[in-house]
Amino acid sequence: AQTERDLLYKIHEVANTFFQEQLYDTEEGRNVGLAYFRERELKDSIVRKFQLGYSPEQKDAFTEYALEKGYSKEILLSSGLSIFPDNTPGGIDRFRERVIFPIQSFSGRVLGFGARLLRNNVKTAKYLNSPETEIYHKSAVLYGLNHSKQAISKNNLCLLVEGYMDVIAMHQAGIENVVSSSGTALTTAQIKLIKRLTENVTILFDGDAAGIKASFRSIDLLLAEGMNIRVLLFPDGDDPDSFARKHPQQYVEQFIRNEAKDFIAFKSEILLKDAGNDTIKKAEAIRDIVKSVSFVTNALKQEVYLKEISGKFRLSEQSLFNELGLQKQVSQ
Ligand code: GTP
Ligand code: MN
Ligand code: MN
Ligand code: MN
Ligand code: MN
Repeated sequence: AQTERDLLYKIHEVANTFFQEQLYDTEEGRNVGLAYFRERELKDSIVRKFQLGYSPEQKDAFTEYALEKGYSKEILLSSGLSIFPDNTPGGIDRFRERVIFPIQSFSGRVLGFGARLLRNNVKTAKYLNSPETEIYHKSAVLYGLNHSKQAISKNNLCLLVEGYMDVIAMHQAGIENVVSSSGTALTTAQIKLIKRLTENVTILFDGDAAGIKASFRSIDLLLAEGMNIRVLLFPDGDDPDSFARKHPQQYVEQFIRNEAKDFIAFKSEILLKDAGNDTIKKAEAIRDIVKSVSFVTNALKQEVYLKEISGKFRLSEQSLFNELGLQKQVSQ
């Protein structure tokens, strides 16, 4: 018998086809959707590869289409693709007048969608995403993984970026070992997906305050899962998408190789810049870095990291070990 899950997979497949047909086979789709992707310098081949689409302005275009195909109001509702407000007779589409990014599972099944506004606008969220459903658990999905898994294994390295466009632009630039948690904070379940392919992660986040904050959080989570990490923040105002479009592939690869720092050097740089000559702030910075080391599960690695901190700040290893012991007590 067809289960609710089967139906959810099916309706996402239908929707994915619909959004692509809207993009290529309608005037509005070509004039608005395809034009948007071209404006962002995406080649047609990459738009196809990532199965990008377009949801038209008509507010019930997909809902009407799916109802006509025999899908029930109930499945449209539980898929999150349609909304049925109390005060309107029919349903309306969740995504309207947006470009569409299908979110796929490890094996490529469509689980949900991300949808971007065509013009940034302070009143409306830039990205709308599918809600949690029986097939889409956003904390357990990494955007791009289905396209990137082979390159991640082959390079024995996973590049972690913030957004959909970052993943796609990096692929276009020829750098294919890249995934994104796309709008949710990185989770342990997502890290476990990466760990099946590699233990090495380079964080490539935006060089803004949000990017720094997210990188600090991600570092501790990744360390707790036994991952080896390096971190690179792009120059303020840049993200992997804009950077990869400005520079040739070789330069981007070199930049990542040369500029990505281990987490101790990375955190030191940021926290010490903040601390200046303030001794108390400096001590707090060191405690913050030792705190990250407390998440490392392997005792030998912990010692190596403490040695690095010891050398960097000219502190005895003993006092760092003492601090580590204290930090572990706090986190228990
Ligand atoms: P572009 O402007 O299309 O280049 O997007 P971006 O990926 O550079 O956006 P940004 O750096 O602002 O945000 C990073 C990621 O956070 C995005 O790719 C989205 O997944 C997510 N995000 C950004 N804005 C929103 C939003 O308004 N709502 C939700 N749910 N997610 C968002
Ligand atoms: Mn489930
Ligand atoms: Mn940002
Ligand atoms: Mn960004
Ligand atoms: Mn961007």
